[in-house]
Amino acid sequence: MRTIKSYVKRKGRITEGQNQAINTLWTKYGIDYSKEFLNFPFIFNNNNPVHLEIGFGDGESLIKQAVSNFEKNYIGIEVHDPGIGRCLMNIKKHNLTNIMISSHDAIEVINDQIKENTLERINLYFPDPWPKKRHHKRRIVQPAFLDMIANRLKEGGTLNIATDWAAYAEHIDEVFSHSDHFICTERREHDGELPFKRPRTKFERRGLKKGHRIWDWCFKKI
Ligand SMILES: C[S@@+](CC[C@H](N)C(=O)[O-])C[C@H]1O[C@@H](n2cnc3c(N)ncnc32)[C@H](O)[C@@H]1O
Repeated sequence: MRTIKSYVKRKGRITEGQNQAINTLWTKYGIDYSKEFLNFPFIFNNNNPVHLEIGFGDGESLIKQAVSNFEKNYIGIEVHDPGIGRCLMNIKKHNLTNIMISSHDAIEVINDQIKENTLERINLYFPDPWPKKRHHKRRIVQPAFLDMIANRLKEGGTLNIATDWAAYAEHIDEVFSHSDHFICTERREHDGELPFKRPRTKFERRGLKKGHRIWDWCFKKI
């Protein structure tokens, strides 16, 4: 498994409320990292389909999805503490029972804790673009990542990706063009029209303000 991380842990100021949320709510909504597979029916207390979001930022899109789809379960993964705290505060605010979060590297969580053929959908919204050439190896979308994701998705499950970086969009097209695991069922390049099948995210708004275009894909596991 690769050891190069797709993130650098930013220091970022954590507020009192976010800190308190981590201290008081983690035991209820947090998934600790371990090398054992998660038992979804046990942790969610139902057999509903599970969607997983990689790098949820402050959790805005994750919370919106969980609030409007009670018949789905959500697992969010993020390593940035202020975002984790913010997300926990919102889980509590909305009294959500269909969401759990992990604060560990998504690659290791998916590799070690997610069983094969168990996820209905994986969302990767605005992954860090690592624009400098010497950092391209840090991009999360790599052939080995696609192999792992395809293994964890159920047949017909989808990987939904969005980016506002033209060069990362080219990279994504290139990597998927060599994969036998997925077919692209939707690809859209746009100027921020209402996103399809996902809420708008904080990084998307940031990109749009800078005049970036947005690329959205839906890749279906064959
Ligand atoms: C550019 S931000 C986008 C955040 C959010 N999805 C949005 O659109 O507003 C990318 C996020 O992915 C997280 N991230 C990157 N690699 C990760 C990994 N391997 N595991 C967990 N989180 C990761 C970073 O910490 C960062 O918060």
